[in-house]
Amino acid sequence: MKVKNICCIGAGYVGGPTMAIIAQKAPGIKVTVVDINEKRIAAWNDADVKNIPIYEPGLAEVVAEARGRNLFFSTEVDKAIDEADMIFISVNTPTKTYGIGKGMAADLKFIELCARQIARFSTTDKIVVEKSTLPVRTAEALKSILDNTGNGVNFQILSNPEFLAEGTAVNDLQAPDRVLIGGDLDTEAGKEAINALVDVYAHWVPRTNILTTNVWSSELSKLTANAFLAQRVSSINALSELCEQTGADIKEVAKAIGMDSRIGPKFLQASVGFGGSCFQKDILNLVYISKSLGLTEVADYWEQVIIMNDHQKRRFAAKMVKTLYNTVSGKKIAMLGWAFKKDTNDTRESAAIYVADYLLNERAEVVVYDPKVSEEQILADLDYLNTRSAEENRANITVVNSALEATQGAHAVAIMTEWDAFKTLDWKQVYHNMLKPAFLFDGRRLLDRHELEALGFEFYAIGS
Ligand code: NAD
Ligand code: UDX
Repeated sequence: MKVKNICCIGAGYVGGPTMAIIAQKAPGIKVTVVDINEKRIAAWNDADVKNIPIYEPGLAEVVAEARGRNLFFSTEVDKAIDEADMIFISVNTPTKTYGIGKGMAADLKFIELCARQIARFSTTDKIVVEKSTLPVRTAEALKSILDNTGNGVNFQILSNPEFLAEGTAVNDLQAPDRVLIGGDLDTEAGKEAINALVDVYAHWVPRTNILTTNVWSSELSKLTANAFLAQRVSSINALSELCEQTGADIKEVAKAIGMDSRIGPKFLQASVGFGGSCFQKDILNLVYISKSLGLTEVADYWEQVIIMNDHQKRRFAAKMVKTLYNTVSGKKIAMLGWAFKKDTNDTRESAAIYVADYLLNERAEVVVYDPKVSEEQILADLDYLNTRSAEENRANITVVNSALEATQGAHAVAIMTEWDAFKTLDWKQVYHNMLKPAFLFDGRRLLDRHELEALGFEFYAIGS
């Protein structure tokens, strides 16, 4: 079967970019991305393509090319469902904040709502594709809902997890290391569905890079990939603390071990801790599944990755307080960067949120600058923690429009996100603007110690 009409439910960081690339590379397929969030859809449809709701290098150009041709954004979910022959589910699957599995399990209520809606409005056979990251065996639940609440049409369920990283999404989607498709390999209908999705990707991905597996392997591979990646960051961060105590330098250690082809050089950048919407959520999910199956040692092993990451965020903030003569009360601390990594406006689980919270508890006056994150978002992130009232947050944190403005009269500066612009900042001017001694805390190993010390800074960097 040839796919002609795709619907994607969820126009977020995954649904938006993924569908934009499918539309760009397969102009013969009509792609409609739907969402219940009207504001988000309106932003995707904004006449000025620069106003699309997600900042990703190169994405606006792709959207400009395909939008209105074969790429559409809409809030008419039911209509798009029925028109499509393939439906991607790309809604959010956050950690549960209530009930059984609170704080660990994935909340699948949005997924179930989608399944019920698909079942209700489908009047022709559909291939339903899990694009969201889901616990292993979710497809079973989806199938049960679809088969029991539908209109007698046939559904095939595929798992097609997304491996893009934010900030490099366009490139990751245009040239993926691999595309993974899990399906029912035991039946003809299952194989046909898998082939239909393979053909979609084959418009631009070499077939040798398209991997097909059974559904459970595919679902579990996504959680595993994120667990392995996060574990590398926690491993290097654990050693960064040891470096600080011993005179070793984590950059040199990372280079030395990364040249071993069995280890490899990527994802060994010590930092103030990993953030983002995926790593923590997906590992907690893995831990929860393992615990539920009675696999205590497996659960404990992976949970340590999160424990280490929390420690790294806390110890960075604690180091600042200790260095500033054990008190930051009433002191102005400039935080450069709020996004969880460079080249994205996404702040979910960003280390900056937790460091700011720690400093506010110590009664610091925090001033934040991020090139792509709005004041509204920064305040919302802090409010979400519920550590103090919204009024108290607003009384002690200020968001400004430039790095130089943030550092004016500051006791200390902390680099929280590795934005390129911070590398080339006029650090001489920053030094001049600050109170002395001028403390600089590099949470990203972005700057050169010798250069900054030569300018007069008291310089601390993670891992040296
Ligand atoms: P997101 O929050 O940015 O977007 C999800 C969207 O789904 C929201 O706009 C929401 O309004 C919409 N939605 C929820 N329920 C809906 C419904 N019933 N009908 C229509 N729309 C609905 O989330 P995201 O970052 O795009 O993540 C989506 C999934 O992809 C998650 O499972 C995540 O784990 C996974 N994932 C994310 C990334 C990433 O980098 N963000 C990478 C790989 C996989
Ligand atoms: C991650 C996975 O990489 C991606 O495959 C998956 O689809 C979604 O989750 P993302 O969270 O967007 O992507 O970004 P990633 O580049 O993985 O970075 C995650 C966090 O780890 C960031 O806070 C980043 O700064 C941090 N990190 C990454 C490090 O601290 N050191 C590193 O060496 C790499």
